[in-house]
Amino acid sequence: MVNLFSSFFIAVGCFAIRGLASVDSYVATEDPIALQGVLNNIGPSGAEDQGAASGIIIASPSTNNPNYVYTWTRDSALTIKALTDYLIANGDTSLVAVIEQYISAQAKLQTISNPSGGLSTGGLGEPKFNIDESAFTGSWGRPQRDGPALRATALIAFSRYLISKGQTSTVQDIVWPIIQNDLSYVTQYWNQTGFDLWEEVSGSSFFTLNAQHRALVEGSTLASQIGKSCSYCDSQAPEILCFLQNFWNGQYITANINTNDGRSGKDANSILGVIQTFDPAAACDDTTFQPCSARALSNHKVLTDSFRSIYSINSGIPQGSAVAVGRYPEDSYYNGNPWYLNTLAAAEQLYDALYQWSKINSITVNNVNLAFFNDLVPSISTGTYAAGSSTYAAITSAVKAYADGYVAVVQKYTPSNGKLYEQFSKSDGTPLSAIDLTWSYASFLTMAAARAGQVPASWGEASAHTAPSACVASSAVGVYSTPTDTVFPSSSPTCSPIASTVAVTFNEYAITTYGDTINIVGSISQLGNWNTNNAVPLNANNYPTWSVTVNLPAGTSFQYKFINKGASGSITWESDPNRFYTVPTGCSTTATENDSWR
Ligand SMILES: *[C@@H]1O[C@H](CO)[C@@H](O)[C@H](O)[C@H]1NC(C)=O
Ligand SMILES: *[C@@H]1O[C@H](CO)[C@@H](O)[C@H](O)[C@H]1NC(C)=O
Repeated sequence: MVNLFSSFFIAVGCFAIRGLASVDSYVATEDPIALQGVLNNIGPSGAEDQGAASGIIIASPSTNNPNYVYTWTRDSALTIKALTDYLIANGDTSLVAVIEQYISAQAKLQTISNPSGGLSTGGLGEPKFNIDESAFTGSWGRPQRDGPALRATALIAFSRYLISKGQTSTVQDIVWPIIQNDLSYVTQYWNQTGFDLWEEVSGSSFFTLNAQHRALVEGSTLASQIGKSCSYCDSQAPEILCFLQNFWNGQYITANINTNDGRSGKDANSILGVIQTFDPAAACDDTTFQPCSARALSNHKVLTDSFRSIYSINSGIPQGSAVAVGRYPEDSYYNGNPWYLNTLAAAEQLYDALYQWSKINSITVNNVNLAFFNDLVPSISTGTYAAGSSTYAAITSAVKAYADGYVAVVQKYTPSNGKLYEQFSKSDGTPLSAIDLTWSYASFLTMAAARAGQVPASWGEASAHTAPSACVASSAVGVYSTPTDTVFPSSSPTCSPIASTVAVTFNEYAITTYGDTINIVGSISQLGNWNTNNAVPLNANNYPTWSVTVNLPAGTSFQYKFINKGASGSITWESDPNRFYTVPTGCSTTATENDSWR
């Protein structure tokens, strides 16, 4: 019995380390490329910014076939949210200035009259602007009502950061007026149709409404934190949640309603909406379509299955193994291909779900999500499986491998220079359409964070997941004001040049037995490339805190773990997941990471 038990763990351990090594190293290599890829596309000093104004984010430097040298409110907001979460998780304070420039640019864009209207007359729903901050006046699918909600969410995330740094007055004076305009737009217009995130369908979009619900909930919370209020948020959020329930059709989340587009409704719009409203403090709630909810898992299966038979590069891949994911099966743009950001989103939802199960300490298999789990664990039946049970272990390791499979698909079709395009060919995987798509890079950053268990802040789902029993059509007029104070106080230190190498001190609190040594091993050569023979030993000068300082290039992202080498040569690994670290890029030539044995 004891032997069986330990060999089971050894087998799982080997699989985890060998099976994931290549995805681990791809993620560690691609993460800094993705971060740089985002920064390259932001004016005024991005290497590829095509002359964009300060804080303006271009969708891609591609100037023709397609020309994406515009700034989209949606893409930019999702990107800044990713950078803000990256800043908070990794302490990379060099990003503060970039985010502040973006916010100042949005203060200006909000006031630019455009074909959708002016500041208080619908203009915030304009999907894109020229990169010199003038209005784009050509014909387009407008308005798009997700932009203001996503921008509010990004600015709220950064506001929380500022508050945590004691800069509440900056939030009150500079950021809140911009957020308030966006929240007011949402409460006024959520119950009117608009174009979806793919800019093709006019109707009511799941992605848009889910983002709007979240923005109003956390907008109201932020308001009360800074001595303001948002009663119009409070009146409209439950109504949006009520309406959202209509997108569940019993098997999957239908992408758009109040439209007649002749499509199946299977659309990555849904998975993107699910990861955008992930709340690490939430249960597996169906009403808000949390990543681990039965609805979102069933939807994951139906959506990803819809691409299995229509892309040649997916042929022969069995059920339960990851495939390339496109926008929707009826897509004909560039002949309809898989997209990097949608394939990464399919992985991210599963990493989010793994995080939620580990918090909840159980997994429930029911009639709604049974088909999803059946693909991964064929013998599974309905029931609730507690953490620590063998079924829970089997499910989580299968879901982790399945999620990594989606990353491996992206890895397979990433060119050797790491550049991410918009799409890759459904027939041979060649990268297609816009090069250096900002959103592709941003989606890589959020996937990598989720994979490393670095979750964003809660948006308050736990007190906002009960939908009213009867829905009413409604709207509320909020408050619009021209943002006048748009210059941030200089709080971040400047230095030139920034440090190129940083001496990173790793401290690991670990109680050990005499003769043991704590070592660090990870995905980069300085940490032995996961080879335990080349692990770096820590000293016990301050036992029980073990310590070592390693010189690393600024900006390097990697994964690592501590191991305990016993006197006899035995090796004990810390438990999963791998730890994740990015060497800060800033003025300081030293940094410290404090961990404790797990
Ligand atoms: C407005 O809300 C009502 C109630 O939820 C819903 O039935 C209707 O479809 C919505 N219309 C639009 C365009 O959002
Ligand atoms: C690490 O721990 C030391 C000692 O407790 C503390 O002084 C330091 O601020 C910590 N650093 C970080 C980055 O947490």
